[in-house]
Amino acid sequence: MPTVVNIGGSVIAPSSGDERFEEYAEALSSVDGELYVVVGGGGAARDYIGIARRLGANEAVCDEIGIDVTRLNARLLISALNGSAYPEPPSGYEDAKAAMALGRIVVMGGVAPGQSTDAVSAVLAEYVDADRLVFATSVPGIFREDPRVDDSAEFVDEITPSELVELVMKIELKAGSKSPVDPLAAKIIERSRLSARVVGGDEPGNVLEAIRGGAAGGTLIAR
Ligand code: UTP
Repeated sequence: MPTVVNIGGSVIAPSSGDERFEEYAEALSSVDGELYVVVGGGGAARDYIGIARRLGANEAVCDEIGIDVTRLNARLLISALNGSAYPEPPSGYEDAKAAMALGRIVVMGGVAPGQSTDAVSAVLAEYVDADRLVFATSVPGIFREDPRVDDSAEFVDEITPSELVELVMKIELKAGSKSPVDPLAAKIIERSRLSARVVGGDEPGNVLEAIRGGAAGGTLIAR
């Protein structure tokens, strides 16, 4: 029963400080069964990408820099997991699956330019035939608008993958708005037979509940 969990960079590394890494390590190490964790880059990735852009780097190079930061965050979580994790972030899906043979938690970051770790998590879930895909985000689930931009945004308890694709595209087209699951990840969820849950990641216990199949107050994406 493989499970893939995506932890947004701004969730696991909200500012300087290591508490979130420790809290997540404690929660994740109590999970039974095959667990893959994909970690985002958060504010540090945005800062490094911003500097690279100002220095004249092209977008593909900026993406590679973003990937490096996601891998650094993955390494921090691996350190916090203290022996319960495979010691290196795998650099691709095949390596991630092979790493699982050791029976430890596999933690990785990004893999290729032109996407985010949301898409990495969705492809990884397809690749390892995961039963469960959980997105731990900085908002409690999916809203019809971006709640960080629109106070009256309506919360969605359950949504089909094709409705999700439509909703995410609509949110991303509005200036300044961002969906908790990006369009490419939504398309991958739609083409696969995956069901997924989007939950607030500020409480690692909440994410643990979602990993175990609970609702965790989030949004269920299912046919
Ligand atoms: P994130 O997945 O953290 O992107 O990867 P994000 O959308 O900024 O995440 P949030 O806002 O914290 O949820 C950070 C950056 O790394 C590059 C991209 O440039 C991305 O914006 N990246 C990541 C890739 O190019 N490929 C990958 O596979 C992963």
